[in-house]
Amino acid sequence: MTKFSESEREKLPKHVAIIMDGNGRWARSRGKPRLFGHRNGVKNVRSVVNAAREFGVQYVTLYAFSTENQNRPDEEKSGLMRLLEEFLKRELATLLKDGTRLRAIGDLSGLPKFAQEIVESSIEKTKHNSTSHLTLALNYGSRQEVLSGIQSYTREILETGKSPDQLDWSTFSNHLETRDLPDPDLIIRTSGEFRLSNFLLLQAAYAEIFVSPLHWPDFNRDAFIEALQNYIQRERRFGKTSDQLAPINQNSITSIAP
Ligand code: IPE
Ligand code: IPE
Ligand code: MG
Repeated sequence: MTKFSESEREKLPKHVAIIMDGNGRWARSRGKPRLFGHRNGVKNVRSVVNAAREFGVQYVTLYAFSTENQNRPDEEKSGLMRLLEEFLKRELATLLKDGTRLRAIGDLSGLPKFAQEIVESSIEKTKHNSTSHLTLALNYGSRQEVLSGIQSYTREILETGKSPDQLDWSTFSNHLETRDLPDPDLIIRTSGEFRLSNFLLLQAAYAEIFVSPLHWPDFNRDAFIEALQNYIQRERRFGKTSDQLAPINQNSITSIAP
């Protein structure tokens, strides 16, 4: 079992968001239909979520179905929705046992009724949990989320007579679906693609991005640990200089300077 040292643990991300990509290619490379890849992709979720819990990563967000995935063939979409249903039925007991609160971001009204219902009831059943937080992005698109946020903010302005000039990021971010989540510290994308595909575009402003060559069904616990190890080596500067981030080192340099 890989353990992070005490000081490494402090550097681990609080929120990891994952773009679970490559199920189709994984299946194709085995001469199987795409849904076989999705089924194995769903099976893989548990090990990564468990590893996150083990290392104290409190928030995990999984991109499961994008707004644009609605353009896929009907058969693939309905297969994915059945897999979602199976996943939630199977995992509910574990979520409750582990104290994990389930949330969803995305337009659930665009899912078939049965999928919408099980997502909503699982969210309801776990709403008192607070040890860890699992969020599924379902029929989610960042641009659509931002447009809804603008609509909601505009309605508030019209109702309250507030001035639009008062708008700041903390106010606006409360109109996004991620209002209850911290920004992701680390975004992992599997299958070697270097793009965000409409995922958490604004929330990712200062996220570290890790791209794994592995297809999602092969992205196991060890691969997740590798991503965390890579993350803790990075210096997150948030616009500052390195020296500003390490004032102690800076002082010691100045004190020995001639
Ligand atoms: C990710 O795997 C799962 C979803 C997008 C639902 P893909 O289905 O995108 O797999 P590839 O990218 O075609 O290999
Ligand atoms: C992103 O993967 C969406 C999910 C993982 C759910 P896609 O496979 O849909 O992304 P593109 O089309 O390759 O950008
Ligand atoms: Mg893909």
